[in-house]
Amino acid sequence: MRDADPQPVRLTDYRPPDWLVDTVDLDVRLHPQATRVVVRLGMRPNPLGRPGAPIVLDGDELELKSVALDGAPLAGAGYAATPSSLTILAPPQDPLVLTIETVLDPSANTKLMGLYCSSGTYCTQCEAEGFRRITYFPDRPDVLAVYTTRIEAECEEAPVLLGNGNKVDSGDVEGTTRHFAVWHDPWPKPCYLFALVGGKLDRITEPFVTATGKEVELGIYVEPGKAGRAGYAMDALKRSMRWDEEVFGCEYDLDVFNIVAVADFNMGAMENKGLNVFNDKYVLASPETATDADYANIEAIIAHEYFHNWTGNRITCRDWFQLCLKEGLTVFRDQEFSSDQRSRPVKRIADVRLLKSHQFAEDAGPLAHPVRPATYREINNFYTATVYEKGAEVVRMLKTLLSEEGFRAGMDLYFDRHDGQAATVEEFLTCFADANGADLSQFALWYAQSGTPQVEVNGHWDAAARSYRLDVRQTQVPTPGQPDKQPMLIPLALGLVGADGRDLPLVPHDGTNAAGSVLVVSRPEQSFVFRDVEARPVPSINRGFSAPVKLTTNLASEDLLFLARHDTDPFNRFEAGQTLALAHLVSASGLAPEKTSAGPPSGGGTALVEALIEALGASLEDETLDPAFIAQVLSVPSEGDIAREIGSEVDPDAIHAARRSLRRALGEALRPGLERAYGRHAPDGAYSPDAVSAGRRALRNAALELMASTGEAADIARALAHFETADNMTDRFFALSVLAHHAPAERDAALDAFYQRFRDDPLVIDKWLALQAQIAEPETLERVRELTRHPAFSMGNPNRVRALIGNFAAANQTQFHRPDGAGHLFVADAVLELDRRNPQVAARLLGAFKSWRSLEPTRRGSAERALRRIADGPGLSPDVSDIVARSLG
Ligand code: BES
Ligand code: ZN
Repeated sequence: MRDADPQPVRLTDYRPPDWLVDTVDLDVRLHPQATRVVVRLGMRPNPLGRPGAPIVLDGDELELKSVALDGAPLAGAGYAATPSSLTILAPPQDPLVLTIETVLDPSANTKLMGLYCSSGTYCTQCEAEGFRRITYFPDRPDVLAVYTTRIEAECEEAPVLLGNGNKVDSGDVEGTTRHFAVWHDPWPKPCYLFALVGGKLDRITEPFVTATGKEVELGIYVEPGKAGRAGYAMDALKRSMRWDEEVFGCEYDLDVFNIVAVADFNMGAMENKGLNVFNDKYVLASPETATDADYANIEAIIAHEYFHNWTGNRITCRDWFQLCLKEGLTVFRDQEFSSDQRSRPVKRIADVRLLKSHQFAEDAGPLAHPVRPATYREINNFYTATVYEKGAEVVRMLKTLLSEEGFRAGMDLYFDRHDGQAATVEEFLTCFADANGADLSQFALWYAQSGTPQVEVNGHWDAAARSYRLDVRQTQVPTPGQPDKQPMLIPLALGLVGADGRDLPLVPHDGTNAAGSVLVVSRPEQSFVFRDVEARPVPSINRGFSAPVKLTTNLASEDLLFLARHDTDPFNRFEAGQTLALAHLVSASGLAPEKTSAGPPSGGGTALVEALIEALGASLEDETLDPAFIAQVLSVPSEGDIAREIGSEVDPDAIHAARRSLRRALGEALRPGLERAYGRHAPDGAYSPDAVSAGRRALRNAALELMASTGEAADIARALAHFETADNMTDRFFALSVLAHHAPAERDAALDAFYQRFRDDPLVIDKWLALQAQIAEPETLERVRELTRHPAFSMGNPNRVRALIGNFAAANQTQFHRPDGAGHLFVADAVLELDRRNPQVAARLLGAFKSWRSLEPTRRGSAERALRRIADGPGLSPDVSDIVARSLG
């Protein structure tokens, strides 16, 4: 077992490794309960390490069989071994070969880290520290080696054997029923990118020719019988490979690229060199079983893992503090890819929604941490929205500040300078500074300071001087471990919108620091003045969400209504409507906000709703707009968004009621337009997952739901017909969800029909579980409890757990935060049970408590009791004990 209360690891304690590993030769003989691993490590002392140091290797629950140095068995006195480490006490200070034999039980590996069996398939997951569960090794990303892997297995049990790199040999093991394959990866890599797979798998394959004419064989491996559902993933892979050549100049570098889909996986997917392993949810799709959102996720995640080949694999991280160096950057790259493949504005809106709901919430609670943390107790807990999503925003800001060309020059220099290295955030930033002659020292604070900066902007038009002035004030709020902060460098994209809806030319007054249309805010308080402004404009601030900040302005609701109708920046056009809706929802939730983004709503609640109805109605009727964009405009802020805006003493029931009644009001007021949109976007042919078709469905379904939220019999009947006649999962599941939330009388029959139809398809059953967990009524907890005993559910499968319990905790605010505390208790007990099996999944589930301090006192008390109950649990994993301690801290 690992130490439950390990010492924190600190960035400032980094030292280069004492020993380097140049080559790793692995021989893995697969067996369900007793897999034998022999590793030969070609090692040498690191000239940058401490002279004379022993060789200290990491392990985790390992059983050592033997050790040999340069071929000679080592006697007990020559080494010290425990399940979690192996020390060679006095090694010669020369290049040497260390041979280590261990045995493992893949079937008993419920943590799904290291080598495990997933539905009969052997597979591995090594990031972040899973390789040490396979063999003793310096398990740190700055030790780069060339790997050769021999895999052997029963022909019957595992006819397919896959490893990193290119296959160099294979055959039968003479005189046995076994066979083997040897894989060689010529590119030095850290051990977290190691992978192997063995099993009975079907495959689809396609050739790909790279920009310089190299042929690559692409393969996607899936459970037998599911190859027909891998086509979209293959197409997404080819588009990703082409895009990375065209946009970043990155070409693939092996003869094969394989993807394997497995049913039991802790995360979404993993970028192992030449052998990506995926949660099957992000590979398998067919019109009957996958929604438009599933298709979009598959496209994005296939791209993300592929893009890691350059940002993560060719250039990796020096240590795990630098995680954003690969993850934030690669999220930025996959966002850009999806923007180019689909609608850029709609993708931006979706990304910002995700950023606010996950990252802003994280930044506002006890788990807040910098994009590059300075300390951690369990690295698995730092694969967070902050590292990923805020990390991507920081890269996006670099591009905004340096321009497209300047950004590309910085990336080119980064690839050039650091290819083959384990790099740091400083080295990354230095490339952009050097390529652009820019000073990025203040910008670097984005990596070090946690919390969402607050930016207040007040605009003033001076009729006499024909000038417009924006007074900007930035505030950094205290976060755990960071009571005081420095002012940040904040790029605010700006437009001044004239009465005719067109942007005025921005003529900066002398001394105003604006790069094109981007205000570069660097001081706590700063004013920007523009000349030749003949009439009062409406400022459109932070266009495209150019900086991840919480913005407040002195815009009146008429100004927001104006922007919602006229802003040429699609993001801010969307955002203006959201700001109006949020201001209304906060006041309708019965609690005065400290300060809402809308500023003082003029004319009170009804005026706001009227402005909102007018704004949404205008978008709904505007046939020049992309339907997918209109669907976003129509979707009101989430319960979580409202709770965050309120900030303290949150009552989830009041929020739910306010949101429900707003949607009912919108459904009633916009009915004619909604009916027209529903009719206009009826399907006009066979299902296709492309963005345009998906956008039409999104709008049609948004209209269906707003109308159904009125509860009118005709609207429920429409939803029922939609459900029954759908020829694809997007429409069928959306209608089912409308019925489940708005039609209690029709709900059970519809849920049952859905179950009967898809009972043999676990990924679809996940949708069915998730939906039931999200119903906002007191009976839900009992329903969820019963579903944990349903044959389709299993605590051992992360997808099932996330679908049912994860959605109950994260996507059902009223029932998770039941005032009687039963929701908190249920999730706490699930965390404790899960922790014994799979700490990583347990710790993620526990993250649902992250905003507990902002609840009203009764619910806050019960959340605290639930957290303390977990904290007192016996034998907690480091994963759960770290989250619970920080949550209570
Ligand atoms: N490297 C990660 C997978 C990973 C995460 C391994 C945590 C170990 C611990 C992979 O590149 C990744 O980021 N996957 C994401 C999906 C991605 C599209 C953001 C995931 O698994 O959620
Ligand atoms: Zn990643």
